Amino acid sequence: MAMTGVLRPGHAQVRVLNLEEAVKFYRDVLGLVETGCDAQGRVYFKCWDERDHNSYVIREADRAGIDFFAFKVLDKATLDKLDADLQVYGIKTERIPAGEMLETGERVRFELPSGHVMELYAEKTVIGNGLPIVNPAPWTRQREHGIGPVRLDHALLYGPNVAEVQKIFTEVLGFYLVERVLTPDGENNAAIWLSCSHKVHDIAFAEYPEKGKLHHCSFLMESWEQVLRAGDIMSMNKVAVDIGPTRHGVTRGCTIYAWDPSGNRFETFMGGYQPYPDNTEPLTWTFDNFGQGLDYPQRKLHETFLTVVS
Ligand SMILES: [Fe+2]
Repeated sequence: MAMTGVLRPGHAQVRVLNLEEAVKFYRDVLGLVETGCDAQGRVYFKCWDERDHNSYVIREADRAGIDFFAFKVLDKATLDKLDADLQVYGIKTERIPAGEMLETGERVRFELPSGHVMELYAEKTVIGNGLPIVNPAPWTRQREHGIGPVRLDHALLYGPNVAEVQKIFTEVLGFYLVERVLTPDGENNAAIWLSCSHKVHDIAFAEYPEKGKLHHCSFLMESWEQVLRAGDIMSMNKVAVDIGPTRHGVTRGCTIYAWDPSGNRFETFMGGYQPYPDNTEPLTWTFDNFGQGLDYPQRKLHETFLTVVS
């Protein structure tokens, strides 16, 4: 197996204003699979083709936003090593015991200089995707319920100290920089796209004065046609759409941004190229071309992209 260390995004916990309304939205409009609820009142979901028990967890609160975003690591030894590496680097870590989240093993929690809470974990119960391991069909009926994304793909988070965040991801956690947008003076990075894999991004950050903000969690669709179908379902259900369907210049991904009923932005996304970690020259966008980076056909830096977060 070539992949080691941090494998991929694992779960996000997001706050919603009305749990009942949010459950209906995520289950029946976005088409996630509801897999449980816990004593704290959190409701757990996964995408239809994900095999682990959960990837998206919601809880009711008086303000929207993200509680934490987690990455799955290869195994327990990797978890212990990354915990030690973070501490050596000077980052305080905390152990959350196994079972605090449903069907999830021990987690290592730490806060980034951007104010975002990150977690690493190695174990989550495999419940499968509803298909047999032997002679499986290519999809299940769950894919046809609502938008039906394949997996939780990545998140874009807004906060301060993006340069320090980049160092932690690249020097401690084994990520590499795939793309960036420069600040208007060209001296620093205004936004960064980081990968721990062969994906064009596993997480992204943009410089923003307020700490700990969520720009969007992104859900992967299998095709451009599925992204357009997602747009149809959004309109049928009067979902507030932000941008798209369109294509990003950054990552070359095809996208729709929209908001859940609480004002948390989410993305239905497909495509993008496949970089390798020996990609030593990140693609760079100057700030005056950020509009093309965001919305390549319209070359438009939508105001909401820069200013609306939860
Ligand atoms: Fe995205």
